[in-house]
Amino acid sequence: MKILGIETSCDETAAAVVADGRMLLSNVVESQIDIHKVYGGVVPEIAARSHVEVMVPVVETALAKASCRWDDIDAIAVTYAPGLSGSLLIGALTARTLSLLKNKPLLPVHHVEAHVYANFLSEHPPAFPLLALIVSGGHTQLVLFRGHGDYELLGQTQDDAVGEAFDKVAKILGLPYPGGPSIAEAAENGNPEAFRLPKARLQGAYDFSFSGLKTAVLRALQAHVGVDHNFPSWQLSSRLDAATRADMAASFQRAAIHALVEKTALAYRDHSPASLVIAGGVAANQELRRVMETHIGAGVSYPDISLCTDNAAMIAALGYYRLIGGDAAVDPREMGIAPSLSM
Ligand code: KG4
Ligand code: ZN
Repeated sequence: MKILGIETSCDETAAAVVADGRMLLSNVVESQIDIHKVYGGVVPEIAARSHVEVMVPVVETALAKASCRWDDIDAIAVTYAPGLSGSLLIGALTARTLSLLKNKPLLPVHHVEAHVYANFLSEHPPAFPLLALIVSGGHTQLVLFRGHGDYELLGQTQDDAVGEAFDKVAKILGLPYPGGPSIAEAAENGNPEAFRLPKARLQGAYDFSFSGLKTAVLRALQAHVGVDHNFPSWQLSSRLDAATRADMAASFQRAAIHALVEKTALAYRDHSPASLVIAGGVAANQELRRVMETHIGAGVSYPDISLCTDNAAMIAALGYYRLIGGDAAVDPREMGIAPSLSM
């Protein structure tokens, strides 16, 4: 069974064809990073317009690379939530139109849930019950999946997502967008002991908080260059040398990863799942993978690096399990988007 996936929730225009929920026939991702880089973050209006420009060629390329004609496609899966409204609308309208024109079942898919399904694009998909740590630019959640579509949210961030914290700290340090890869790279030359950063105290055993950590980074850097807390964060980076940038990147990365691993290890012990998967853009972080393995041991799974950040293959993979699970496809004339729907 072949599913065409379409994803446009943020700043990647993506389409992919996946066979039987695990075989990647094509995976086309047109990133807008270079367009948004100059603004230091995603500009929603520009994101939506850029999706319009490349959406149709991206779908055509995904079909061509998979050597598929429309007759070969069994259904279309598309991200309908959550994300930037203008961005979501472009993918949703494209999928609805194609579903009507080509007479294909239409499956609306939740983007955050789909991140977990990047781990199913493998010869050896993870077993249930499955504990998922979902770490992206918009989400930080621990979710226990008992089966496909049967899950319980164990905990989540009470403020910023961890990817958002990487992006914000990178901005303070004057490192390029997106912040995650920039921080990881700078951290390689830094001393993680250089700055002592505080640990968040939270009520929920499996909850997270990253906004205090970001503020602690700002305060520590202000103190380091000898200015008070009123000194604007956007003027700090010009006063930092490369060694300080690297030291703070390493110290911040260690603190953020420690928080993620500590809560995940606790949930892992309490729930004894058959597998642990890490999903979302921050799952690309090599140091996170390494530290998680030292705490949990072997048996932690991650998607291929190219499938950690936003893509349509994960959308198609989840679409497949929804279809075989008997989830009715929706009426393409009726399907809406839900920009702020959580899992
Ligand atoms: O899943 P994703 O592509 O988009 C969302 O659904 O949010 O995640 C993007 C986030 C960004 O915040 C980016 O900085 C972060 O993932 N990221 C990383 C790395 N690569 C991407 N964070 C830490 N280390 C990385 N290597
Ligand atoms: Zn994402």
